[in-house]
Amino acid sequence: AATASKKPLTLAFEAVRGSRTDAVVVPEGYRAQVLVPWGTPLFDDQQWKASQPMDAERQSVSVGMHHDGMAGFALNESSASRRFVLALNNEYIDQDALWAPQGGPTNAEDGQRPAEESRTEINAHGVTLVEVQKEASGGWSHVVGSPYNRRLTSATVIALAGPVAGSDYVKTRFSPDGHQTRGTNNNCANGVTPWGTYLACEENWPNVFTHGGERFSDDARLGIPTERSRYGWETSAGDASEVEDEFARFDITPRGDSAAQDYRNEARTFGYHVEIDPYSGARAAKRTAMGRFRHEGCWLGKLDAGKPVVFYSGHDARNEYVYKFVSRAMWNPDDANRPGESYDRMAVGAKYLDQGTLYVARFNADGSGEWLALTPQALTPKGHSLAGALGLSDDDMAGLLVSTCDAADLMGATPMDRPEWATVDPTSGEVYLTLTNNSQRTAQQTDPTYTNDGSGVTQSGVGYATAPTNTANPRPDNAAGHIIRWREASDQVRFAWEVFVFGAGANDDDNLSGLTEMTQFASPDGLCFDEREGGQGILWIQTDNGYENVSGYTNDQLLAVIPAALDSDSPDAIINAANQHQLKRFAVGPNGCEVTGIFATPDKTALFINIQHPGNWPANGDALTQDATRMAQGAVRPRAATVVIEKQDGGPVAV
Ligand code: FEO
Ligand code: CA
Ligand code: CA
Ligand code: CA
Repeated sequence: AATASKKPLTLAFEAVRGSRTDAVVVPEGYRAQVLVPWGTPLFDDQQWKASQPMDAERQSVSVGMHHDGMAGFALNESSASRRFVLALNNEYIDQDALWAPQGGPTNAEDGQRPAEESRTEINAHGVTLVEVQKEASGGWSHVVGSPYNRRLTSATVIALAGPVAGSDYVKTRFSPDGHQTRGTNNNCANGVTPWGTYLACEENWPNVFTHGGERFSDDARLGIPTERSRYGWETSAGDASEVEDEFARFDITPRGDSAAQDYRNEARTFGYHVEIDPYSGARAAKRTAMGRFRHEGCWLGKLDAGKPVVFYSGHDARNEYVYKFVSRAMWNPDDANRPGESYDRMAVGAKYLDQGTLYVARFNADGSGEWLALTPQALTPKGHSLAGALGLSDDDMAGLLVSTCDAADLMGATPMDRPEWATVDPTSGEVYLTLTNNSQRTAQQTDPTYTNDGSGVTQSGVGYATAPTNTANPRPDNAAGHIIRWREASDQVRFAWEVFVFGAGANDDDNLSGLTEMTQFASPDGLCFDEREGGQGILWIQTDNGYENVSGYTNDQLLAVIPAALDSDSPDAIINAANQHQLKRFAVGPNGCEVTGIFATPDKTALFINIQHPGNWPANGDALTQDATRMAQGAVRPRAATVVIEKQDGGPVAV
């Protein structure tokens, strides 16, 4: 906490009004620069042209599409705020933008996709690593041909690590021993480890698969489609042997005599945190001990020498859960990242992330909470062993992890309003979590002890069909979402929680936090606790909103707030406007976008954010010429991009 001698942190910028334009709006005295938009070549300095056809080879050496979570990795301490490896997730694709010069994708809705188009789309997904630098002129650029530049795509070979690796659950024709898979998909938010690696988190990955028969229960729970997959990659038409090798895996219907002869288990090699060493070309690893679900992201808890390393994560689906992974190994500060040095960071990752205990959260009505261990021996509230209740053998940790959400049901976890990002105040250890919205939250049979029993799982992959309100998710049909926070008890098994702020339109009846036109927001998604001097910090809030009471006023946005102290005695203590006098709108994104992916440089002079799925941005004077009407209206080929926001006087952002 701040000491009395420290000046309280204050937000010094002039808040911006809502905006509905094709531009990023920032406060007076600030500038915003577009950096590494989709399609930027990593190894040559060709200029982007909107008329440039994309192909698989070009996409494999260019920045991927639809930037989401990201982080910067310093190359040495002294230049950490001016030069670093930017790791960014390329969550999914906009097929219209990708295929604009050709007039759109081929057979996107039905029929066979050309193999080359599928390959290109596969290469537009994944993760981009690119060295970026601040130039003497003050602008930012990427370093063409940097040895750190690298792409991981939905086809890159990745190791499976932790308890699921090598188990029967993940044996495939590609990897009969179950130690590898190909690709990482739909990485949404991210994590950063203290040893200098990046965690990309697989979220909406079920949609790239299809299953034509009776699915495994975990595949059904997580929503593997039974019809065509999202992009139809499984239909790819081309040379028979190529098609079998590259694309058959997206249709996981059993075809062979055993799992090692087909791809029935392919989807079980997805749904994890993927650890990547941004400093080397080392093979990435899926850390299966941290659970398998639709991971939004992964956030490091308070780090203390001699204590376990903790990561929080949420399952972004309606009425799904919040998780905590606690390492078996105790944190040794000698393992902290040594920027620029070459050594085996993946081995450090294995030490902390391949063995540990996964917990799921129960939020009690009185403002207390409990972490429920997901171990085979754990006793369910009905008094059965968890392994037994799941129908597994006594020591089948791999089976439990593959069915993480079913295990969480059985232990009595609290169904949440779509957990998205979390962030941790590194001084106090308080954790903030966005609950973005929930159209399947009913006011009926309000019961603070209600837990899912597995019978309400939808078959469409969006969590439970319905759940009644509970105190942590108190609004029926929660259109605007809210943010909660908690603090761990000393035993690390209990915690105290409270609602931090409710999203709302200023004129809504349930505007429970007293938001005004200048602070109204809905569907909070990205979060970042940006630590400043004296243990104080700014909580950055980003939105991904479809709620018309707010979207009719403003595009998605970035807000800042200096959090008031946590009052663990009273869960409702800070939901009134008086405690949010420092909530202010800092930036607004262009039409059609979501504002996501955020970090500040160590010196706090640059704030990096991502603009995902913009509708008509960034304008670069190179209009797309396919559609005369849209061209006359100023239409461009939209490109997701990173945006760097700086103060014109070069000082720290926001204060
Ligand atoms: Fe990709 Fe839950 O956002
Ligand atoms: Ca997103
Ligand atoms: Ca998100
Ligand atoms: Ca979202």
